[in-house]
Amino acid sequence: MYRTHDCGELRLSDSDKTVTLAGWVQRLRKLGGMTFVDLRDRYGITQLVVDEKTPAELRAAVESLGREYVVQATGRVAERASKNPRLATGDVEILLESVTVLNPSELPPFTIEDDTDGGDELRMRFRYLDLRRAPLRRALELRHRMAHEVRRYMDSQRFLEIETPYLIKSTPEGARDFVVPSRIHRGEFYALPQSPQTFKQILMVGGYDRYFQIVRCFRDEDLRADRQPEFTQIDCEMSFVEREDVLGVFEGLAKHLFKSVLNVEFDGDFPRMTYDDAMRLYGCDKPDIRFGMTIADLTAAAKGRGFAAFDNAEYVGAITAAGCAGYTRKQLDALAEWVRRPQIGAGGLAYFRTGSEGVKSSFDKYYTPEELRDMASAAGAAEGDLTLILAGGRKATLAGLSALRLEMGARLGLRTEGTFKPLWVVDFPLFEYDAESGRFYAMHHPFTSPVPEDMSKLESSPAEVKANAYDFVVNGVEIGGGSIRIHNAELQRAMFRVLGFSPEEAERQFGFIINAFRYGAPPHGGIAFGFDRWCAIFGGSDSIRDYIAFPKNNSGKDTMIDSPSTVSREQLDELGLEITEIKK
Ligand code: AMO
Repeated sequence: MYRTHDCGELRLSDSDKTVTLAGWVQRLRKLGGMTFVDLRDRYGITQLVVDEKTPAELRAAVESLGREYVVQATGRVAERASKNPRLATGDVEILLESVTVLNPSELPPFTIEDDTDGGDELRMRFRYLDLRRAPLRRALELRHRMAHEVRRYMDSQRFLEIETPYLIKSTPEGARDFVVPSRIHRGEFYALPQSPQTFKQILMVGGYDRYFQIVRCFRDEDLRADRQPEFTQIDCEMSFVEREDVLGVFEGLAKHLFKSVLNVEFDGDFPRMTYDDAMRLYGCDKPDIRFGMTIADLTAAAKGRGFAAFDNAEYVGAITAAGCAGYTRKQLDALAEWVRRPQIGAGGLAYFRTGSEGVKSSFDKYYTPEELRDMASAAGAAEGDLTLILAGGRKATLAGLSALRLEMGARLGLRTEGTFKPLWVVDFPLFEYDAESGRFYAMHHPFTSPVPEDMSKLESSPAEVKANAYDFVVNGVEIGGGSIRIHNAELQRAMFRVLGFSPEEAERQFGFIINAFRYGAPPHGGIAFGFDRWCAIFGGSDSIRDYIAFPKNNSGKDTMIDSPSTVSREQLDELGLEITEIKK
């Protein structure tokens, strides 16, 4: 037997027991004639000790231990002279009787502490060492707990967990596919699923009624803090449902997770916001509603008074930061600098302060005091407030205001950690028009149904059609998205027509699902949640990377296993592949 207890388990009530522990040497400290060893495993840290009375041989063995050695230690549990209230085991220590090195360790390249000295790349390359750190361990424990609670809830709602294949055919979620060449069918390729979308719909045609899966998805897209090329979804689908049924069941899932994992409860239903309102008031489709500071449209109040920056703009919009009228010139210059960064790309920042003596702006000479007061009232500004204005094209300006709002919210401490504001965003447009290619794209995916009242406009005025789609947003993060689906072969064909697929192309790519719809497809709908994102939000982090045991780095590489990497000539030959050019 390697151990009688784990390293997080022993308490004062275990005093005088002889125990054996196994774990890693966290650190060694010498204090006068005593040597202390912190022994660590997944469950905690226990202090081992030898003193002058310990036989010299054992003392020497302990002193020769290095960081991250794997050891087995036997001794007697004793009350500590100086207790450590930060450790669960901090009341006791083990008076060592024997120690065995199970495996020595080379000196690790960074410290295995909560605040490590290791940089990102180093920790990725030595992920097994990083995984020993408590913050990562806690993140993966949280992930486990959440997966467990998802399964518990979904099972209670009669969902069946069903696996779907990874070697499939292109799925239209809007990213690039990862492709896998086939050896048996030379020159042909599988695509890895961007999501199990088509399979879960086919499971509905198959009569399974309620499906879910905690499933890996693959998308070849640019990485961000909340994006990985392989990530995990809680993927769900239900038959004989309308939007309200789906939202009800998954609001239930969200509440169950909040309660069971974080002990957070909500009064009443989650709020809903239409896509149009989200864009108008927050400048984005995933608003952080932990704070107000909504966007005001000042276009009418600002244009036509001779101020070129406003007159030449399609749209003038503002946010008002309460109590910030005292911002200094320097602070405002810094904000102006901030909005001019390429990520925001604003031409400049205009502002006004509302004070007891009226409104003072950066563009006073173009407006009468009366007009400035009207602008302040349109912006909802009160005495003591600072209003920040951007002008330009409508879409880009709203995006800029959205970013500025989040930045101001963060600077003013309004994006309170540990507070959760879930939100359903509904009534998305069905299509997005891309001026460059001159065609419509599905905003969600091409299986999303229009809202019933817009059905007739599908082919005549696609830009006006709303989708029966919904997103689940928490604190400004898109956690999930879904829709009621098209379940009628004819409507699905019409959808492909609007998206510019020829009948042959639609048949080639999606014939299987259109065919399935010809054999009695039930009305159905569903949703998928980004599981990594949900874990990160619960863990209080912006980055999903620490919630994934083996993530990719910023350039999509796993540096621990050195992937992607080249393959042998034989493999290429077998697959009938030729590499034409390698850009270094
Ligand atoms: P969607 O594409 O919106 O919908 O994806 C659902 C959720 O998955 C998460 N997500 C990601 N997380 C990490 N890295 C990524 N690269 C990544 N891409 C997406 C987001 C997102 O909200 N089949 C549809 C769902 C449906 O209609 O039922 C789908 O995949 O949190």
